[in-house]
Amino acid sequence: MSNTSSFRGMPCRTVGDSGLWVSEIGIGLWKWGYPEYDHSRVGEYLGFQILDRALDLGVFHWDTAASYNAGSGNSERLLGRYFANRGRIVRDKIVLATKFANHHREEHQLGPYPINDQDFTPNQCGGSRIYLMRELEHSLRKLCTDRIDLLYLHSPNVATGGDTDWITPLDETWSAMDDMVSQGKVRYLGISNHSPEQARATIEALKQVGKDSSRRIIAIQNCYNMAERSKLGSSEGVGEQEMLDFAAEYGISIIPYFPLAGGLLTGRYTKGNLDQVEGRLTTEAISGRFLTDKGLKLAAKVTAMAKQKKCSAAQLAIAWLLKRPMLASVIAGCTKLEHIDDNVGAVKVKLSKADIDELNKASAWS
Ligand SMILES: NC(=O)c1ccc[n+]([C@@H]2O[C@H](COP(=O)([O-])OP(=O)(O)OC[C@H]3O[C@@H](n4cnc5c(N)ncnc54)[C@H](OP(=O)(O)O)[C@@H]3O)[C@@H](O)[C@H]2O)c1
Repeated sequence: MSNTSSFRGMPCRTVGDSGLWVSEIGIGLWKWGYPEYDHSRVGEYLGFQILDRALDLGVFHWDTAASYNAGSGNSERLLGRYFANRGRIVRDKIVLATKFANHHREEHQLGPYPINDQDFTPNQCGGSRIYLMRELEHSLRKLCTDRIDLLYLHSPNVATGGDTDWITPLDETWSAMDDMVSQGKVRYLGISNHSPEQARATIEALKQVGKDSSRRIIAIQNCYNMAERSKLGSSEGVGEQEMLDFAAEYGISIIPYFPLAGGLLTGRYTKGNLDQVEGRLTTEAISGRFLTDKGLKLAAKVTAMAKQKKCSAAQLAIAWLLKRPMLASVIAGCTKLEHIDDNVGAVKVKLSKADIDELNKASAWS
């Protein structure tokens, strides 16, 4: 991962031990869809503006999932309309990442949320060949494209409480994923929400069933941000360092999700203003996870340091991540045009060793 390149002034990195380049700043499209009825925050009109702007700024790593927004699948649909509208010249620039494993509905069939499992047969989620192959065709249709550049298994297909108690045999899951590459419909493979133990088992399975040694896991997308460093391990009792060591051992990139802790690390939330801020953390169920005493204290520290360094808090939080080992790209979610402008500025923030030590110390509890 020592390679460097750039696009429109945006530095790029390769993903794992592969030839795939991504922009250091990417964009996460979880909260994109059809806000009137699927719990998303960005609809088509604003979404197209943000995507145009992102590409102008060199942001070409775009992350979505088949199930995003209450299982509606509308994030992929919005992106598909964008690709259909902007054409091949734009599509060919983008590293399109998506994920399979969770239920998704057909358009305009949004039912109650959380999703009722009984609306689906067990073959409509997970890691089985029957589900994965069908999901691939659905996603390609929704995305109006003929291929996915980076496909993640969204979560390990394990029984609740059993770390490696696989519901579908791993060789079935990974031979189906490998077949998608052989069909030319998927280019690279990744995993999400996996612990090192689950990742190791996956790598071994793919080694057994993959057509050749280039069919590797190149990226792990797990939760990682200054307020939740220990979540990187994705399993009880597995720490940040263990996952970083694992990624280095296997030459796999980390692509962190929740890089801004859902907005906590942008300086918008303080102890005194929680009843006045209109943001995801004050309006969605997720708030309890981030708006804790420790979280708000860390946010205040990041804001104060950012002021000294003449950058925004979001830029500082992203710059810290970009300094972590094995990090390829930061896919912060953007719900306003100014977010993408701001986040892109993180690549210009210079962090000294003393700055990094200070941020590490302030976030060590997490
Ligand atoms: N693999 C998985 O299981 C998984 C899980 C979750 C997410 N993801 C991926 O990771 C991506 C990133 O995570 P995320 O979007 O959930 O959380 P995030 O990036 O930590 O936070 C995004 C939120 O921060 C706020 N924000 C972003 N930039 C800002 C700026 N410059 N100034 C002020 N506020 C700013 C916005 O909040 P407001 O909307 O409140 O304005 C935005 O919705 C997702 O979009 C998705 O692609 C993957």
